[in-house]
Amino acid sequence: MEHQDFLQLINTRQSCRDFNDKPIEKSVVKQIAENAMLAPSACNSQPWRLYCVTDEKKVTEVAKSVQGKVQNKFLDKAKAFICVADKVATLKPEAMQKFDRNHFVQYDVGQLIAYVTLGAESMGVKSCVIGWVTADTMKDILGLSDDERCNIVIALGYSDAPIRKKIRKDPSAVIVEI
Ligand SMILES: Cc1cc2nc3c(=O)[nH]c(=O)nc-3n(C[C@H](O)[C@H](O)[C@H](O)COP(=O)(O)O)c2cc1C
Repeated sequence: MEHQDFLQLINTRQSCRDFNDKPIEKSVVKQIAENAMLAPSACNSQPWRLYCVTDEKKVTEVAKSVQGKVQNKFLDKAKAFICVADKVATLKPEAMQKFDRNHFVQYDVGQLIAYVTLGAESMGVKSCVIGWVTADTMKDILGLSDDERCNIVIALGYSDAPIRKKIRKDPSAVIVEI
């Protein structure tokens, strides 16, 4: 991959809040999830399960559950969700001596989410990471086992919305050269 291709990918990936009516194939959602499994995780613990929700009724159920009075109303038009459940990580014994077994889980899930959103974008699928999630509600909807907790979902679909200019802090406020 050329650097230019990477730049294009990270600049066109944006939170989509304007899904159109085009349905998304089950197989496309599964492919996005499978690709994301290549994300790195501490000790390669892969402390996650990815629930690919494409059934129309379930998609509506997930969408409703992550909406507030005004929050995330655009999800009525989401066509699918990848719901990420995190699990207790099994780290290498040396790491377990130094760190709590959950020390890295949120970093791991963050990596996974980035792979989902960027991977989706590379396939022309638009996404929005949704953190407005109640784990207990998601447990019921997805039928999670007791060792799984879903605190984050990713909405998927297609969109005709133009690419926005990225709004980010000035690099001088973020990047420190030593
Ligand atoms: C952990 C996390 C939770 C987020 N939760 C929501 C959410 O509930 N609703 C929403 O519309 N956007 C949500 N976003 C998207 C952010 O608002 C968005 O990434 C940020 O404003 C930067 O814009 P961009 O993604 O278009 O570059 C979330 C993003 C992350 C990483």
